[in-house]
Parts: sequence; structure tokens; C-alpha cells
Amino acid sequence: MKIIHLSDLHITPAGKSLFDADPAAQLMQCIAHINKHHADAQLCVLTGDLTHAGHPLAYQRLAQCLQALKMPVRFLMGNHDDRQAFGQVFTAQATELDGFVQYAEILGDYEALYVDSLQDGYTDGYLCERRLQWLEQKLEQATRPILLFSHHPLPMLQYPAMDWLRLSNAEHVLPLLKRCAQPVHLFSGHVHRCSAGVWNGIPFFTVNGTNHQHELDLHTHGAATSTFEPASYAVILPHAEGVTVHFQPFGYDDSVRFPYTGSLDALKCRHA
Ligand SMILES: [Fe+2]
Ligand SMILES: [Fe+2]
Repeated sequence: MKIIHLSDLHITPAGKSLFDADPAAQLMQCIAHINKHHADAQLCVLTGDLTHAGHPLAYQRLAQCLQALKMPVRFLMGNHDDRQAFGQVFTAQATELDGFVQYAEILGDYEALYVDSLQDGYTDGYLCERRLQWLEQKLEQATRPILLFSHHPLPMLQYPAMDWLRLSNAEHVLPLLKRCAQPVHLFSGHVHRCSAGVWNGIPFFTVNGTNHQHELDLHTHGAATSTFEPASYAVILPHAEGVTVHFQPFGYDDSVRFPYTGSLDALKCRHA
């Protein structure tokens, strides 16, 4: 199985740039790369901040861009999103919880949980009692390893400019995850950086934005500094022995390619 993970598209209405860039053009470049290299993926998960300001015209523009993508899409809400405006455009979006974009599906030998961590009017994330109860039930009933997608990361990333803006009640989620009899893997965006690690025994991954990134400044508290470091997406490979995640920059397809070694004889391998 192959799942593509994008985040933080920050799409704007046509004609409106963002930080002197065009998020839709960036997304189209990303989609072209995915279609060229990973058209065999089962689906593409967009973990929120789909638009920059939740404008209905931005969701329409997103829908137009996604027509080019050669696989089904799953959506999550981020702090820059507006559920109502999103719902007016993506009318077929499933939910298992009225008023939220929160749902689950079986993906082969895995189960994906899509959690809506948006709290209206705030930058950090939050799961209210209803969303927590839904999650608790799903985790209790799980018969397969879990891929849990949310916009806001649950762990501290040791990155002070964004850690204070993560899921604010992650301490309420942790016991539910620890009680789950199945392995759980966490996938998020929001921090506009690729990171991976283990949080209280639970593996987690975050992925870059497709438009702008945040500088890796591990000292400054307060607001992050944005950059145009290379954008990338993640390729998630759930398999029989666990989950592998590759981070793939896009926009470098014309990079020079060359053989790692001129001769196979130069490679020594005990198992060859
Ligand atoms: Fe974002
Ligand atoms: Fe965000």
C-alpha cells in the first residue's frame, strides 16, 4: 500500500499571492511530481491548512487543482480552514461526527483515523469531548494497526516556535493511544517541517508545507520564521512489518542524475 501525505497548502483565491508566491502553482507542481512518480498510490491525504484564509473561492481553486491528481483525496481541517466554506465546495466529504470533518476507513491491513483538530478562532488545536469519545471508541475497537492523521501534532517537537501551537490537549489523547491494543502511527502537518520521532513509545511524523516552510530555529519562542526552503511531501508505505515514510522534495526533476558507481563489481554485499 502507498499513501501520499501533503500538508499546509495554504491555497488562496485566484489572483491573490501569498508571501509573493502562488500556493496553487506550488500545488500543481507537487501534483505533477506525484502523478509522475506515484500514480500507483491508493490515496492522498491532505492534513489541513488547505487554504490560507478559509475563503470559499480558495476551496474552489483547490478543487480545480485536485482534478489533476490521479488518486482519491482525503481532507482534514487546519487552523487556517473554515469548515463551512470547505463543506460548500467539497459537498461529498464524509464525516462520522456532525459539524466536524472526522472519519475513519479500513485501508487493507491498516485502519486510518482522520481527526479534526481545528478549534475555531485559535491557532493551536483541540479535541472536544465528542471528538475524543469518537477517537476513544475507534481505538478501543481497532483490530488493525492505526494510521492517525491530524493537522496539529500531538508531541512536542522540541521546536519552541511551534510547540506551543500543537494540539493543546494532547495529554487527554495520550492515555487513549496507550490503551489501544494495536500499534499507532501519528501523521501531522501544521509545523511546515519534516520531522520524525517517538513520543511516549508512539512513532510520529510531520511533513513540510507545499508552499512555504518554517525555519528550523530551536531557540526562539513566539512566532516561527517562514522560508522558501524546498517543499516536499511524504510517501507512506504501510507493510506487513510496520510503516516506512519517505520525504520527497519536488521541483528538482531536472536535477542531474548519475550512477552511484560505475561498476556493480565495486559494490560488496554479503548476501549477494
Ligand atoms: Fe500551515
Ligand atoms: Fe496550521
